[in-house]
Amino acid sequence: MRLDKFLADMSFGTRKEVKQLIKEKRVQINGKIVTKADFKVDFEDEVYVDDERIEYVEYEYLILNKPQDYVCALEDRRYPVIMELIESIRKDLVPVGRLDVDTEGLILITNDGQLNHKLLAPKSHVDKTYYVEVDNPIPENAVEIFSKPMDLDDFITQPAKLEILDETSANLTISEGKFHQVKRMFEKVGCTVTYLRRDQFGPLELGDLDIGEYRELSPEEVEALKNC
Ligand code: URA
Repeated sequence: MRLDKFLADMSFGTRKEVKQLIKEKRVQINGKIVTKADFKVDFEDEVYVDDERIEYVEYEYLILNKPQDYVCALEDRRYPVIMELIESIRKDLVPVGRLDVDTEGLILITNDGQLNHKLLAPKSHVDKTYYVEVDNPIPENAVEIFSKPMDLDDFITQPAKLEILDETSANLTISEGKFHQVKRMFEKVGCTVTYLRRDQFGPLELGDLDIGEYRELSPEEVEALKNC
């Protein structure tokens, strides 16, 4: 990889800015100052900028506890975007799927395009568990209704698992992620969702991550995602 790309990928600025940094003789590779932007860097090379060792990070995997009133997008005219809550090394991270603006909870963010694609593919059926609060008592037969394919006008759901917690709250696990799916499923049984939070996404759990906080996935979690 070219040195200027290596440094730009690692957030040392634009290609133009890193070229300047290289010209200023601030970059050393394997103990020698390098002044050429097109110098080819190997992964085993020891790259230093000033006195800081720079290890190349190809992929980043983060989970964020999305707050309400943020949108899962790279930019938006009306609302702040979740990417504003993240400080990452790579600048090419994107959210994997979307949560509604008024939904809280687990959203995966990565620059691993292959994994993103695999997780969102219609045939991949990754389980997603939501904690749901609604305005009216949840009918008991909702468990059975949700467990069978439901006609939501523009698509038929896969069987889903509903666990009623009390009159107006439940956990719902679905294996797709169609637009407003949870809200639309509850509307069909006479309930309007008043609060929605995603607690699980495949093998990932929100755990005790505070609202607005994020963390890196462990290598085991990344592996589990790739195999789910
Ligand atoms: N279902 C919804 O209705 N909204 C979400 O944000 C996620 C799932």
